[in-house]
Amino acid sequence: MSTRAGPPELQVLGLLAMLGLGTVTLTYLLWQLPLLSTGGRAHPQGGPAGSWGLGSSLAWEPLGGEPQQQPQKDSCRLNLVESIPQDLPSLTGSPSAQPLAQAWLQLLDAAQESIHVASFYWSLTGPDIGVNDSSSQLGEALLQKLEQLLDRNVSLAVATSSPTLARKSTDLQVLAARGAQVRRVPLGRLTGGVLHSKFWVVDGRHVYVGSANMDWRSLTQVKELGTIIYNCSRLAQDLEKTFQTYWVLGAPEAVLPKPWPRNFSSHINRFQPLRDHFDGVPTTAYFSASPPALCPSGRTRDLDALLEVMGGAREFIYASVMEYFPTTRFRHPTRYWPVLDTALRAAAIGRHVRVRLLVSCWLNTDPSMFPYLRSLQALRSPAANVSVDVSSSCQWGTTPTSRSAG
Ligand SMILES: *[C@@H]1O[C@H](CO)[C@@H](O)[C@H](O)[C@H]1NC(C)=O
Ligand SMILES: *[C@@H]1O[C@H](CO)[C@@H](O)[C@H](O)[C@H]1NC(C)=O
Ligand SMILES: *[C@@H]1O[C@H](CO)[C@@H](O)[C@H](O)[C@H]1NC(C)=O
Ligand SMILES: *[C@@H]1O[C@H](CO)[C@@H](O)[C@H](O)[C@H]1NC(C)=O
Ligand SMILES: *[C@@H]1O[C@H](CO)[C@@H](O)[C@H](O)[C@H]1NC(C)=O
Repeated sequence: MSTRAGPPELQVLGLLAMLGLGTVTLTYLLWQLPLLSTGGRAHPQGGPAGSWGLGSSLAWEPLGGEPQQQPQKDSCRLNLVESIPQDLPSLTGSPSAQPLAQAWLQLLDAAQESIHVASFYWSLTGPDIGVNDSSSQLGEALLQKLEQLLDRNVSLAVATSSPTLARKSTDLQVLAARGAQVRRVPLGRLTGGVLHSKFWVVDGRHVYVGSANMDWRSLTQVKELGTIIYNCSRLAQDLEKTFQTYWVLGAPEAVLPKPWPRNFSSHINRFQPLRDHFDGVPTTAYFSASPPALCPSGRTRDLDALLEVMGGAREFIYASVMEYFPTTRFRHPTRYWPVLDTALRAAAIGRHVRVRLLVSCWLNTDPSMFPYLRSLQALRSPAANVSVDVSSSCQWGTTPTSRSAG
């Protein structure tokens, strides 16, 4: 990873992941962070962890950086995008990622020929769930925009999970009636999972990857994080290969290819990442995927990408997740699966990496998670220079007995 000469610079390891199901992860390393813009400054101490959405993590480390190079024309441009729930106005504007709805509409404005969307489910209108609320308007505007693009002969291909969570939604019928191609991917039958990826490839040049579902609530009600990379054909065409794996599996009577044909192979991975200038900043990046059955040759697996990022952390790991279970969640009987938990503990204890874990607290939070949070937090030891901070607005830190008293 470049030379070790020269003055130390900051390195960002960025990661967007939803583990275990059909997913895609982007890992990117940026040198010279300030251009990434959290008000123009990096925050190696009090980083932006508290504002980061589902399944994301960040770590900085000092690195012997490459000499600063001139920004190049027509190279990749990376924007962080996020959604902050409308009823959390105190978070608005802190820090400064672009609002997701605005970013999506802008990306669609750039579309000239084709839009490929990998999605878990679609539910862009309020009536889908019997809601008449102004906060569904952004989702409805997005659906309208896609209809307009179809009318302008921009092609739209959608791969989505089957069966769907949103059985009452008519979004995909509306779009298909205007010419969209839709494939429902039965990953349950093929791999025992769901298609959980959320990404777009636009014109084979621009890419969106993030946590947001094609759901109006992702635009106004849910904390989401993502990234849009403009003008980055090599990455976009690589991600398109993953889209094509879903597309093939969404065909009638599809079976899992073993192995995948050679034209699905990736040449951009953790051993050979893309090396380019993002906004003029020397950057390496690659996409990983899961499950392994959906990783043709050359595709890094999500788990290996996560372990590489965590194992490479030298200063801190800030992670934001919906839930934290070192066990299987969907396979019964429950099995212990401590691989990522172990990597976090190894970083905190073995390398004195500062670990901060932010865990969602919502209606579906399963309290059987709390012992694992307490177990991780228990490692904290200023005397041994072990820094672990677990944060969640759930009452995870108290014992179940005292909790039920509250
Ligand atoms: C939704 O609510 C608005 C304002 O409260 C009302 O004018 C409109 O008729 C309602 N629409 C439906 C379909 O109920
Ligand atoms: C879209 O394609 C159809 C069929 O080729 C054509 O008739 C129509 O004029 C095109 N519309 C636009 C806006 O280009
Ligand atoms: C992408 O590159 C084109 C020129 O090739 C430029 O006109 C356009 O503004 C760029 N888009 C972004 C979002 O940077
Ligand atoms: C590989 O080739 C097959 C047959 O031509 C095609 O159906 C498939 O979409 C291609 N895959 C990719 C990733 O382009
Ligand atoms: C604690 O660990 C950090 C990170 O490795 C290191 O920078 C610091 O010097 C350590 N402090 C002590 C007192 O060992």
